[in-house]
Amino acid sequence: MLIKKAKSYGFCFGVKRAVEIAEDSKNAVTLGPLIHNPLEIKRLAQNYNVNYVDSIDKIDDNIKRVIVRTHGIPKKELEKLKNKNIEIIDATCPFVKKPQEIVEEMSKAGYDIVIFGDINHPEIKGVMSYSVHERVFVVLDVKELKNIKLKEHIATVAQTTRKINDYLKITDYLIQNYKEVRVFNTICNATFENQDAVRELAKEADIMIIIGGKNSSNTKQLYNIASEYCESYLIENENEINPEWFKNKKLCGISAGASTPEWLVEKIISKIKEVTWN
Ligand code: F3S
Repeated sequence: MLIKKAKSYGFCFGVKRAVEIAEDSKNAVTLGPLIHNPLEIKRLAQNYNVNYVDSIDKIDDNIKRVIVRTHGIPKKELEKLKNKNIEIIDATCPFVKKPQEIVEEMSKAGYDIVIFGDINHPEIKGVMSYSVHERVFVVLDVKELKNIKLKEHIATVAQTTRKINDYLKITDYLIQNYKEVRVFNTICNATFENQDAVRELAKEADIMIIIGGKNSSNTKQLYNIASEYCESYLIENENEINPEWFKNKKLCGISAGASTPEWLVEKIISKIKEVTWN
């Protein structure tokens, strides 16, 4: 069986940057996991003593540094941190900062804010917190949007990891129904590149293995795209591999989410080779 990696996969610019910041910071804590990959989080804890806490109240006085993670945090939490005697190292991806800034600016200008994304995702919790008023609405589809009575002036942003075609449905509806719609394309290129590459490879592969955290939305997107074309599996580590999957398969495609380190991709490829060659 042949194993082929997608043309583009794995760590994006923002995650590479956050991991480098964490490695340089040492002995720090992150508020929530720095990135969506449990194994990389473990490596940072073991090798660099960078651990994570799940709330500001758990940051005790012995901790001198806190890293704000790639997805950003709500504005109030950032303010709470600033009131503590602690060094704040901001690893929020610049592409996540952008929708935060837009929401702040457009809400100040009096626009209703529509955010296309998942309200439970940390990035969206952070982005919506930048609105200076309460008229901020998070939707996942047009159906949800139809239930909201918006004012005539609307600004809209998208979660960085969303599909552009889905965002277009939202913006289409808004433009057809409201007088002024300011559309900001905040979807990140890294996501496009990994998605295009997984689609291309899944078309020719018999099986696709997508590597990444099961709580990572961009990894799930890659998995959903791959599943449209061939048998696909989303795994976090090599122990989840089942040799049965590869029976009678000629080409196995590999892709990985934006939070998946290269060392993990290589480890999984070695494991696939091991189970398919014995
Ligand atoms: Fe940033 Fe895009 Fe990665 S938003 S964290 S570069 S997927």
